[in-house]
Amino acid sequence: MTEDIPERESRAFDTTEGNPIFITQRDGMFYAYKNLCPHLQVELEFLENQFLDQDREFIECSTHGALFNVETGECISGPCLGESLQKVGIQIHSDGGIYLS
Ligand code: FES
Repeated sequence: MTEDIPERESRAFDTTEGNPIFITQRDGMFYAYKNLCPHLQVELEFLENQFLDQDREFIECSTHGALFNVETGECISGPCLGESLQKVGIQIHSDGGIYLS
């Protein structure tokens, strides 16, 4: 549900296919990505549901500190510079439910 993911917060989910993903909200839009760093194919977070950097400006990989643009998933700093997180298509329904599209 959208209410579970406030602005500039993030939350991990498991899809029915068993793929871990996370969703974050920025400026009222929701963005979902696979929970996989393009550098070493490891999960991004160290603490539960913490996918953003300290300023909540970028998505951050906790392993080597790579930073990713929230809207595009592109790595803008760190060892995977120029690579991107894998975007996951989602739809927001009027009841606030978030569904994979
Ligand atoms: S594993 Fe993510 S930056 Fe190295």
